[in-house]
Amino acid sequence: MLLRAISLALLGSACAPDASREFAAAETSRVEVEGPVLPLEAPIPGRDYDRAEAALGRRLFFEPMLSRDRSVACASCHDLAAGGDDGQVRSYGVDGRLGSINAPTVFNAALNPVQFWDGRAPSLEAQVNGPIHHPAEMDSDWDTVVSRLTQDAEYQRTFAEVYPDGVTAENVASAIAEFERTLITPNSPFDRFLRGEHGAITAPARRGWSLFREIGCASCHQGRNVGGNMFQVFGVLGDYFAERGDIQPADLGRYNVTGRDRDRHVFRVPSLRNVALTAPYFHDGRTSSLAAAVAIMGKYQLGRELEAEDVGDLVAFLNSLTGVLPSAAGSSGESP
Ligand code: HEC
Ligand code: HEC
Repeated sequence: MLLRAISLALLGSACAPDASREFAAAETSRVEVEGPVLPLEAPIPGRDYDRAEAALGRRLFFEPMLSRDRSVACASCHDLAAGGDDGQVRSYGVDGRLGSINAPTVFNAALNPVQFWDGRAPSLEAQVNGPIHHPAEMDSDWDTVVSRLTQDAEYQRTFAEVYPDGVTAENVASAIAEFERTLITPNSPFDRFLRGEHGAITAPARRGWSLFREIGCASCHQGRNVGGNMFQVFGVLGDYFAERGDIQPADLGRYNVTGRDRDRHVFRVPSLRNVALTAPYFHDGRTSSLAAAVAIMGKYQLGRELEAEDVGDLVAFLNSLTGVLPSAAGSSGESP
């Protein structure tokens, strides 16, 4: 209870813009274990998944038929063998079209109460609509997807086994979302440390973890996913965008969803789990190293020029957040 009170107090501190308050408070009120960061568990506590739905969802995740020209699958941009993202600054969809924002990982996305950098999708199911229609992703539509899957005898049979109403847009989204609920990466060295295995992380990583809390990184990156559970402005104590230049619509963040001035440059705080595997960083993908990303956070979110040694310790801590991939994350479309 005491620690819960502390993390709520942090949320109420000067660095939390109004836009994020309700969302953040609702999420943290569920925090019951010690500390701002909780160990990861799989399956998600209280939310086991349906094996048959998830297996179908896994096939759909690797299915290029979902895209207009049958060239792009979810897995094209969310490579499960490489951090669950695509390692690009911005993603390439059908016809090599370039998207407008960096692809986040799908690992542990199921823990985030809302999806996308600007939080515009309220669930994993709703999220699926995005890539299906996005002109620079799959550039398709539900009629086409449903008709193609219905014409495929094996899909038709499997859908009928899993869902009474067979192939529908809702069922495609539901199966993919169920598969994504299996993409949890528990047992990182840091999770083992949190569970009491002191030596599971290195001395620099332990110093980095202390620093992470002391200087206030954990006021934004917290909870089971070390982030993902609140909206915050990028540039609390400095104007990242003015200094970077070349401002694009995607830089407006949550403003694109709400149209409220105070949501300009507000983003969902990303999870830092597996962050060592998901370079380049930030919604604009313009930062290629984790050390540089940490220094940028120090400068623009906390108003501090971090010493090189502190950056090194924070990076060592972030490296300890790389978890164990679930078996369903095997890189082919075949079932494990
Ligand atoms: C062409 C590349 C591309 C394809 C194909 C693609 N995605 Fe994404 N995905 C992205 C990008 C870019 C974003 C971030 C978009 C944003 O936030 O506005 C994203 C975001 C997401 C997120 C949100 C993660 C988070 O933390 O907010 C999920 C979940 C996701 N994609 C799943 C899928 C699924 C499921 C499919 C297939 C139906 C898919 N993606 C197809 C590039 C892609
Ligand atoms: C005021 C809230 C806040 C604080 C404090 C904060 N961050 Fe962040 N962090 C964010 C937001 C918001 C983003 C996403 C910015 C964007 O890309 O638009 C982010 C992004 C990141 C990223 C990039 C993740 C990715 O997948 O691209 C890293 C790494 C990171 N933060 C680490 C840290 C560290 C280390 C500290 C402490 C030195 C810290 N953050 C402090 C809010 C915060």
